[in-house]
Amino acid sequence: MGYVCMLLFCLSAGVKAQVTKPAIGKVLNLAEQQYKSYLKQYPDAALYPRSVNKDGSIRLVKSKDWTSGFFGGNLWYLFYLTGKGKWKNEAIRYTETLENEKYNKTTHDLGFVLYNTFYKAYQTTHNNRYKEVLLEASKSLSSRFNPKVGAIRSWDFKPFKYPVIVDNLMNLEMLLWAAKASGDSSFYRIAVSHADVDLKYRFRPDHSTYHVLDFNPENGELIKKQTFQGYADGSCWARGQAWAIYAYTFLYRETRDPKYLLQAEAAADYFLSQTDLAQDPIPFRDFNDPEIPNVSKDASAAAVAASGLLELSTYVGTKTNYYDRAQAILSALCTDEYLAKAGTNQYFLLKHSTGHRPHQDEVDVPLIYADYYFLEALYRYQHYKK
Ligand code: GLY
Repeated sequence: MGYVCMLLFCLSAGVKAQVTKPAIGKVLNLAEQQYKSYLKQYPDAALYPRSVNKDGSIRLVKSKDWTSGFFGGNLWYLFYLTGKGKWKNEAIRYTETLENEKYNKTTHDLGFVLYNTFYKAYQTTHNNRYKEVLLEASKSLSSRFNPKVGAIRSWDFKPFKYPVIVDNLMNLEMLLWAAKASGDSSFYRIAVSHADVDLKYRFRPDHSTYHVLDFNPENGELIKKQTFQGYADGSCWARGQAWAIYAYTFLYRETRDPKYLLQAEAAADYFLSQTDLAQDPIPFRDFNDPEIPNVSKDASAAAVAASGLLELSTYVGTKTNYYDRAQAILSALCTDEYLAKAGTNQYFLLKHSTGHRPHQDEVDVPLIYADYYFLEALYRYQHYKK
């Protein structure tokens, strides 16, 4: 039987294609080589790798950047995945330099910066100093909550009045942890209020997401649903959809409210229906970009989705195949198309992510948060209990 005939036979017989397992060993080997070279070349732990500039040079940022916590987080995952103490020492170094951000009230990104690092430091060492940093950061994040809107403000720049972006959900995990760690239920109330406002307005009937919800801070009314990093107001930015899968899943984990689980599943189903349409587990940067397939991919969206799907699959049992779908994403990210060779890619792991296409910024480049959620997903995959 020829290949095409065999394929048609398998499809018509309902035989599922076998998904290969992600090559975790290969990724760890690469990560160890890349990070060893990076640390030798850039020893200053108060600078953090973010991406690659248009001229091919590495883009390093300071602690106030929203991406500053991911490299430290990667070092923590490398420690968890290899058990080697040298990565723990480096992780601590790249965690502690972020501490001052705990007072930063000008951003909603404190979870990305501090929870991804200090929570792991606390979990690993049980040092109360790390816990105190997270509680202070949770106070700073809570200061951005407006009870009229019922949500935390994302950005302070114009033309937005009171923007609440889908990414902002990710920072709620720190508040939900802080409520448990401190006994202060106001952190929980703020997180749940924010999630409920998000749930009310974020999704279209097909469960695709709007990127930005802009509110009137005086009366809490929704003014506009729009995009910032996606193709258009009415389109679905792939990473935004992945943030929604991931965040509604942990919202269910922390609250056990079934409406969050239903929303996580619906967001996941939309994401997967779109990658099915494109017949590639790695999405284009926006699902509705009319220039598809001549559009950059976003490996970061794939990695966030894979990590979220792995957790989501633990709450829905065998009802869905989210585990298989996460495995397929991770396997695709482990191919030469996406996984860099040692000594290349400015020491990042994954290629082909997209940051901000409308600003022509970080288009088809490595992004540090793609590597973070990739390592996290591999860690979740390695410790998965069926
Ligand atoms: N949180 C910013 C982004 O996802 O690009």
